[in-house]
Amino acid sequence: MTAFHKQLVYRMRQALMGKLISRPQPKAMIFLGRGSSAQLSEAIGRFGLRHTLVVTDKPLRDLGVLDSTLAALDTAGVQKTVYDGVEPDPTEQVVDAGIDRYHSAGCDSVLAFGGGSSIDAAKVIALGVANNCKAAGCIGATRCKLPSVPFFAIPTTAGTGSEGTFIAVISNNETHAKGAVIDPNIIPKAAALDPELMRDLPPHITAATGMDALTHAIESYIGKWGNTETDYYGLAACRLIFDNLPEACRNGTDLQARQSMSLASYYGGLAITNALVGYVHAISHNLGARYGVPHGLGNAIVLPHMLELIKTAAADKLAEIAVHCDMGTASEGSNALAQKLIDRVWQLNDEIGIPRTTDVIRSEDIEKLVAAALAEGGNYPSPRFISEEECRGVLKAISA
Ligand SMILES: NC(=O)c1ccc[n+]([C@@H]2O[C@H](COP(=O)([O-])OP(=O)(O)OC[C@H]3O[C@@H](n4cnc5c(N)ncnc54)[C@H](O)[C@@H]3O)[C@@H](O)[C@H]2O)c1
Ligand SMILES: [Fe+2]
Repeated sequence: MTAFHKQLVYRMRQALMGKLISRPQPKAMIFLGRGSSAQLSEAIGRFGLRHTLVVTDKPLRDLGVLDSTLAALDTAGVQKTVYDGVEPDPTEQVVDAGIDRYHSAGCDSVLAFGGGSSIDAAKVIALGVANNCKAAGCIGATRCKLPSVPFFAIPTTAGTGSEGTFIAVISNNETHAKGAVIDPNIIPKAAALDPELMRDLPPHITAATGMDALTHAIESYIGKWGNTETDYYGLAACRLIFDNLPEACRNGTDLQARQSMSLASYYGGLAITNALVGYVHAISHNLGARYGVPHGLGNAIVLPHMLELIKTAAADKLAEIAVHCDMGTASEGSNALAQKLIDRVWQLNDEIGIPRTTDVIRSEDIEKLVAAALAEGGNYPSPRFISEEECRGVLKAISA
């Protein structure tokens, strides 16, 4: 196929998928602010639920971050079984073990407690239980007939916005290739954005996850499937992140900055639910699958390189973000404003300790990475098509 034909297929696929996905989606009821995780726990009791499976990871449980929520569930008269088997980028196996745990403990609901990995695993546990299937039976677009069992989420990182999306990313047991469960039924009934739980989130995770949220906000805003609502969330998230991420990294106990980042993360999730992501995510997902690069870190490293590459095609939208974030005024023209925004992204990365390159990429893998990233990126409504040569160029530019 020639480059022209590849572009044509890309545009046709975008138009078709845009029609399928651009429709109103359900949203979680949100509890916001200090103590909101206890309010959500009370609400679970008031829904009449009696035994929840708390899905989390072991390091988080060992830190004691979960203790106040477990105590609040006790107070609300809700029995709990903790499943702490989640690992970063959860596999189907992790989900299947959670489904078994739900059944053996006799639970009636699922509460996700943790970062995107715990929330995504919990989403698929709740869907799999309701549909009497394993993770593999859920992967794909709306594969399951029945809605999830009652499902709630308490994010403890501010980045993925998974509490607001109808997507769950689950990796293959052997290849670690990322698969997606896409289903409006996996949006939680309610979620709590509680900054108290993020006090001990280390600066490097705060930085990487915060840049994941910024990548959601920017990629959804400059992509082709945005609408008035997703544009609103994208712009609001950008502003909150530029204003608060440096402080959240410097001073993790600044709960105002933490709360603003939680909200930005949630807004980013709402934005990508309809407007999706772009080539930054396509590359980052493959760095995660092949080398275990954390999702947010991969996005953070790729984002400014990709923006430099597509800045002409995305100039007007990048300029709107720059103006919204007080980086200049409309009279300066789109190209100058777009460059100001990109320069600010480089500067933010430097300020919060994100490296400009990574040493994990092996030269013999580059062609496989290009093929996988472009196959995934072809599903996203990016401002423009990226060629193999351009994708190879980005991978070489980020290689140390
Ligand atoms: N569903 C979606 O819409 C969506 C969107 C983007 C990314 N994702 C997925 O989310 C996953 C990444 O999630 P993540 O970036 O939140 O990281 P994560 O959930 O993998 O957590 C990273 C680490 O942070 C630790 N941690 C979490 N909260 C903490 C806290 N408050 N204090 C101290 N340590 C804490 C965890 O123990 C873990 O070791 C990836 O699998 C990615 O593919 C999903
Ligand atoms: Fe992401």
